[in-house]
Amino acid sequence: MAGERSIEIDGLVREFKGGIRAVDGIDLRVEPGEIYGFLGPNGAGKSTTVLVLTTLLPPTAGRALVAGHDVATEGALVRAAIGAALQEAALDPVLTGREHLHLQCALHGLDRGERRRRAVDLLERVGLAEAADRKVGGYSGGMKRRLDLALALVHRPRILFLDEPTTGLDPQSRSALWAEVGRLAHEEGVTVFLTTQYLEEADVLADRVGIIDHGRIVATGTPAALKAEIGRPRLEATPAVETDREAIAGALAAFGEPCAGSPRAVAVRLARGTEGLTGAVRALDAAGLRVADLQLHSPSLDDVFLAKTGRTLEGAAEEEPAAAGA
Ligand SMILES: Nc1ncnc2c1ncn2[C@@H]1O[C@H](COP(=O)(O)OP(=O)(O)OP(=O)(O)O)[C@@H](O)[C@H]1O
Ligand SMILES: [Mg+2]
Repeated sequence: MAGERSIEIDGLVREFKGGIRAVDGIDLRVEPGEIYGFLGPNGAGKSTTVLVLTTLLPPTAGRALVAGHDVATEGALVRAAIGAALQEAALDPVLTGREHLHLQCALHGLDRGERRRRAVDLLERVGLAEAADRKVGGYSGGMKRRLDLALALVHRPRILFLDEPTTGLDPQSRSALWAEVGRLAHEEGVTVFLTTQYLEEADVLADRVGIIDHGRIVATGTPAALKAEIGRPRLEATPAVETDREAIAGALAAFGEPCAGSPRAVAVRLARGTEGLTGAVRALDAAGLRVADLQLHSPSLDDVFLAKTGRTLEGAAEEEPAAAGA
């Protein structure tokens, strides 16, 4: 099956009772060995997409091929090729981490000796070697996420689905998980489809990003290309004295429209890109306005989200608290 795509989705729809279109006509392609980041706010349709791709929910319309097999009609073949760590990890609190791995290895038909070796190897890889013989009921949220990742890797899947793998992890565990996911993809050629609400995660980890909002993909491309589309950087000036704030805003208005920035600063999106910077500096100087700090920010994926949806990703998350954890 050389040359085949890992994931190929055309016009995928998943509707729930009451007419909620959680996934509303999605098309996407993921190539072998690629890390695809599915970025969107709460309730965007990320988990629903993952559930359809992992054969746990049937699609309402459209078609999805995973490892070349149709998720609707060839479920067993799809499941043999994939591993998944879902948003709601199904772990048994009275079993230890090692016992979970032994069980999962047995389910996949590994013999006793191989079971032991695979468990040791995977526990080590996700940083749970020391906690291996403790009951999972006593694990932190982050430890559970890492155990869930290890369980998804038992049968050496070619395609890995991770639904918000780093939500609730401390920064150290987060970067350890990023490193492991990067290694799996770039050294072992595993295709990774990962959902996230974190801009930085999509930016740092994903080779390509799809931004999803209200069940539709609003932008897709490499993080660099998406940000380049926005193009224009944001200039932030922090007044040296607070009373100058309005005057500074007035002086900068000639160089771009006001935009969201850090709370202490006045921020504008430079209309003529970096070229506007020198002009802005001269204008502040000519007006005798002093700034404590002046910063130029390259566009972020949040700017991309804002440009496509009219909202910031953080704002969108606050807007739909009812969907949290759905
Ligand atoms: N079983 C269900 N029945 C009815 N509606 C559902 C069901 N599952 C999800 N939804 C709705 O579908 C939409 C998409 O939900 P989904 O869980 O896919 O979002 P998500 O992007 O994973 O969000 P989060 O970041 O909060 O995990 C939401 O409006 C949600 O309320
Ligand atoms: Mg979800």
